[in-house]
Amino acid sequence: MNQDFEFYNPTQVFFGRSAMENLSGLLSLYGKNVLLAYGGGSIQQNGVYEQVMQVLQACGKKVTEFSGIMPNPTYQKVLEGGAIARSCGADLILAVGGGSVIDCAKAVSIAAVERGDLWTRHWLEKRPVEIPPIPVGTVLTMVGTGSEMDGDAVITNEETKIKTSCWDYCLYPKFSILNPEYTYSVPEYQMVSGIFDTLSHIMEIYFSPEDEDNISDDFAEALMGNIIRSTAAALKDPQDYTARSNLMWASSLALSGLLAPSKKEDWEVHQIQHQLGAYYDCAHGMGLAAISPAYYRLVCPYGVPRFKRFAINVWGLDPTGKSDLDVAMAGIDALAAFIRDSHMTANLRELGIPDDSLLETISSTCNLRQGGYYTLTREDVLQVLRKSF
Ligand code: NZQ
Ligand code: ZN
Repeated sequence: MNQDFEFYNPTQVFFGRSAMENLSGLLSLYGKNVLLAYGGGSIQQNGVYEQVMQVLQACGKKVTEFSGIMPNPTYQKVLEGGAIARSCGADLILAVGGGSVIDCAKAVSIAAVERGDLWTRHWLEKRPVEIPPIPVGTVLTMVGTGSEMDGDAVITNEETKIKTSCWDYCLYPKFSILNPEYTYSVPEYQMVSGIFDTLSHIMEIYFSPEDEDNISDDFAEALMGNIIRSTAAALKDPQDYTARSNLMWASSLALSGLLAPSKKEDWEVHQIQHQLGAYYDCAHGMGLAAISPAYYRLVCPYGVPRFKRFAINVWGLDPTGKSDLDVAMAGIDALAAFIRDSHMTANLRELGIPDDSLLETISSTCNLRQGGYYTLTREDVLQVLRKSF
């Protein structure tokens, strides 16, 4: 661990079939007014809404609902939630859903206490949050983003067509209830989208310097190996508790900060996907799957030893008789095969992008980061998008 680092993760996690039993004790730590944030109705269909409401009512809470949070939540929706949170005097925001609901709830927690142009202040200029936001707790129903245990709130500004994140320590949820059974009802498309999101979070940290012997990379390989096994098991039987629980915990760990020490972190695949998401309202993880093979094939020659290690340690490939670059590229081929075999989106057409007319706009608006083995030019981004089409 050659680089100095700070590690802090304040989210209290309750995990497992009986995790919900802890909610009433947690609620007793907050005031009477609870803003219940959720999405388009999946929690009413799978019974989670009823379970949560029963606990809230038994605890004597005054509940105000903030529903209809859409996948890829918009800044407009954040402002709507902020106004509701203010008018009901929310003491706690309880987010019940996936990454979109949790991210929106985090953003609302700021919008409820701060006035003015929050978008410019916190999402564009990345200025720290100064007024303590309303506390957020979560009940996770969809696995992948890691939002239940991190400080990010990814929001789309529909007017300016920018999708980006605000990060702050004060945005970590105070607590998260993680019951893998709540994910049984997630449709296969969303399940594998979330799985690739987790895998991408791990890969975007793993495929970056420093490359000295370090615990972060060893953790990353263990998590990737488990995800590959658990994906096959969950596709075969969506109610395989062992697989679903491994996938859930892998997702939370991936962005918990555990894998980051001593790593510069790449995140360029996410930068490209966020701009794809700003123009095309697509499932986040599927967008990542569609562009990752082309991206990694472009970057691989600049980080051959690491990609070779990925091929051998994660995919179990035999390097005998092959050049280092060939082994490294074979690891990316294995990733592409995993994407196809796991019913993930293998290219931008499958993602629902009808033509290549916006690819130049996307490449000219996405952030270019310097954390990986190679810093892309805008022309490189366009090439990745064209190869992914
Ligand atoms: O609208 P609801 O009813 O909640 O339905 C959702 C939605 O339609 C549904 N769903 C969730 N749980 C379900 C379920 N359907 C049936 N049964 C359940 N148990 O699944 C659909 C997708 O949900 P969504 O929350 O949009 O998915 P996800 O968790 O992948 O979140 C994606 C958002 O998170 C951001 C993405 O950019 C995207 O906006 N990210 C957040 C990150 C973070 N905070 O750290 C990091 C990620 O890289 C990512 O950028
Ligand atoms: Zn992601």
